[in-house]
Amino acid sequence: MPIETSVSVAAAAPADAELLAVPYTSELRPDVEDLPLPPADLLAHYEAKGEAGEIVEVPVAREAGVGRILLYGVGDGSPKALRRAAAALVRRVKGRRSLTVVLPEGDAAAFAEAALLAAYHFKIGSAEGKKPVRELTFAGAAHDAVRRGETVARAVALARDLANTPSSVKTPAWLADRAAEQGLPVRVWDEEALQAEGFGGIVAVGRGSARPPRLIQLSYEPGSYDKHVVLVGKGITFDSGGLSLKPTDNMKFQKTDMAGGAVVIAVMGALARLGARVRVTGLVAAAENMPSGTAQRPSDVIRIYGGKTVEVLNTDAEGRLVLADAMAYADARLDPDAIVDIATLTGAITVALGRNVGAVYSTDDVLAKELIESGAASDDRLWRMPLIEDYTPALESSIADLANVEQGARFGAGSITAALFLREFAGGRPWAHLDIAGVGRSTVDEGVLSKGATGFGVRLLLDWLSRT
Ligand code: BES
Ligand code: MN
Ligand code: ZN
Repeated sequence: MPIETSVSVAAAAPADAELLAVPYTSELRPDVEDLPLPPADLLAHYEAKGEAGEIVEVPVAREAGVGRILLYGVGDGSPKALRRAAAALVRRVKGRRSLTVVLPEGDAAAFAEAALLAAYHFKIGSAEGKKPVRELTFAGAAHDAVRRGETVARAVALARDLANTPSSVKTPAWLADRAAEQGLPVRVWDEEALQAEGFGGIVAVGRGSARPPRLIQLSYEPGSYDKHVVLVGKGITFDSGGLSLKPTDNMKFQKTDMAGGAVVIAVMGALARLGARVRVTGLVAAAENMPSGTAQRPSDVIRIYGGKTVEVLNTDAEGRLVLADAMAYADARLDPDAIVDIATLTGAITVALGRNVGAVYSTDDVLAKELIESGAASDDRLWRMPLIEDYTPALESSIADLANVEQGARFGAGSITAALFLREFAGGRPWAHLDIAGVGRSTVDEGVLSKGATGFGVRLLLDWLSRT
């Protein structure tokens, strides 16, 4: 369902393209011959300033009748501006069969990526209205860059598809099947193996559901490497809250509570195509958080992989329980140089950073800086949040090593205390935590975003892993 648009690359645009887009800036006038007026006069007439997102449509004579040239502004030519320009173009030609785009100067990968993402749609049933353009041809000498942009966009689309899929379909086992389609070695722990090997967090969270939990591991190993990164994704296929049940209005958004896991699966699947030179292990801790006669109760004490005990005071703080298992396993068994987890972890982070910027917490300044830079470059923006030591007493329990939530509200800071909880399971290794609860889902159809899952994290992690 993802992106139904096909992409081709041509050295030059055919002179008779029926629908052709040509870039311009405030200084640079487009180089097209068959316009009815000189391009400078046309742009002046429409008061076009060259901003990214600006489009001037001009009808032109074609053999088959009337064709159309779209003059598109590219602003300052930065990757951000090119993304905006590309998305605006593709949205403008909705309903058309094909568009030929003369590539602008600059980052053709960012341009192609955004063009494709703007063509993403997810619909179950008969789609009404205009469909995204079916064929895109990029003209210019940037074949490899366009293909790279396409690979990234299709990975984002996969993450969106997984997260947009209704929870009636996407059981933890279904998610494991999708992971197994990525062309990489895969290992899946079913409920019995999880129980037998001591993954007490995943087992406890999954116990309330008729659809048992899974831990999914994907491995990418290039011929030679000097770094091993473990990615850990939260894979709650539906978060009802468990016995600490959510109100309906909040619950209906919780089918995307596996967005972090979806990002991990999609990133793993794209690494080979991008020629990444780092070893990466992806872990997805998948469970459905449901209330039932077999569900865990507030006040239960569970044992995370490796032995730490947790008093579960709120069954709706389930993400940290499944992530703790996966992180502790990564530390004990995989000897990573860095652990990065990604999770729709707390409603509180939406209050702090809103819907456009994700949170990064880290025990390592270099790692944090690299991720923030990749976020800026890829347009998955991150803001660093603090691990405030003074708040660690919030997670003390009188009967277990840790409590999963603060009792009372002395400290508050729900996203920070969640991060402090996770840090206990990183084994002192360089670790970063991405809280994507705010950015994982979009409420608008705009630019590269469509309503529903965003795939936030795919672009940033692929950028980071292909630089590392
Ligand atoms: N999956 C939710 C967080 C969430 C909320 C994601 C809204 C996306 C949109 C998470 O499991 C959760 O329920 N967190 C609780 C934690 C609380 C019980 C300490 C929250 O944020 O309220
Ligand atoms: Mn929850
Ligand atoms: Zn959750």
